[in-house]
Amino acid sequence: MKHLLKLGDLSREEILSILNLADQLKFERANGIQKDYLKGKKLGMIFQKSSTRTRVSFEAGMYELGGYALFLSSHDLQIGRGEPVQDTARVLSRYLDGLMIRTFAQQEVEDFAKYGSIPVINGLTDYCHPCQVLADLMTIREFKGTFKGLKMAFIGDGNNMANSLIVGAVKTGMNIAVACPEGYDPDAELVKWGTESGLLTVTRSVEEAMEGADVLYTDVWASMGQESEKKAREAVFKGYQINEKNIKGAKDDVMVMHCLPAHRGEEITNEVFEAHANEIFEEAENRLHAQKAVMVKLMR
Ligand code: CP
Ligand code: NVA
Repeated sequence: MKHLLKLGDLSREEILSILNLADQLKFERANGIQKDYLKGKKLGMIFQKSSTRTRVSFEAGMYELGGYALFLSSHDLQIGRGEPVQDTARVLSRYLDGLMIRTFAQQEVEDFAKYGSIPVINGLTDYCHPCQVLADLMTIREFKGTFKGLKMAFIGDGNNMANSLIVGAVKTGMNIAVACPEGYDPDAELVKWGTESGLLTVTRSVEEAMEGADVLYTDVWASMGQESEKKAREAVFKGYQINEKNIKGAKDDVMVMHCLPAHRGEEITNEVFEAHANEIFEEAENRLHAQKAVMVKLMR
């Protein structure tokens, strides 16, 4: 494993190995054991979109590992004025030991890896969000003890989260049902791959997806970069919501997850969100542990 560009690049064993290390790092932190796994290492973090969790968890995580993280806003970098990725990647590779990028096009992250000579971590693109799903898998295993036999249901837009969750579920052997409106399906190649595995179902029916689910997941109706579609999307996604009524179709001990930020009253009601805040904020915390594990694997 040289980079984390998308979850599909990792084998099942590599994913489990990251999750195991993440559990270990969480345990060490909880018990006051501090080890400088990445002493003196420097991580650059390029952000072309907003972030709360990703930025702070990477920055805090790098500090806890004995390294240093630099926040690089694309507004300030020359990349924002048109300096090519090929050049930026080669320059930054001479100063840093790793690079995290949050941007729009998946190709840009792939290009950083291609032209640079340091590990590249995808901190979210329009296509996928691998760091989030590693934390999600860690959280599911923490609450459910296993992946075996579980059914996850994703309700909403077939976006970056849906794409990565499909890969994460299939690789760990969970069933996953995605309920989304027509025209908002996840990536077609992933749908084909997931369906052929026998573990993925895509449906228009929220009730069908939720039926007997162990884990419910949702995300915003309009992602970053889709702000101008917000109004139109509200009409399309009405009904693609986790609420007190439809959650009854899931298992009694269902866990509810959200990558955050959440829009209460849209993809999830305030009641369901608050009733499952325990899981949702553990999931947010686990970003820290999962990403520390990724950095140790890639940069040590
Ligand atoms: N879930 C997530 O990636 O959050 P941020 O956009 O705040 O980083
Ligand atoms: N789908 C959302 C995820 C945010 C973490 C977005 O891309 O904005």
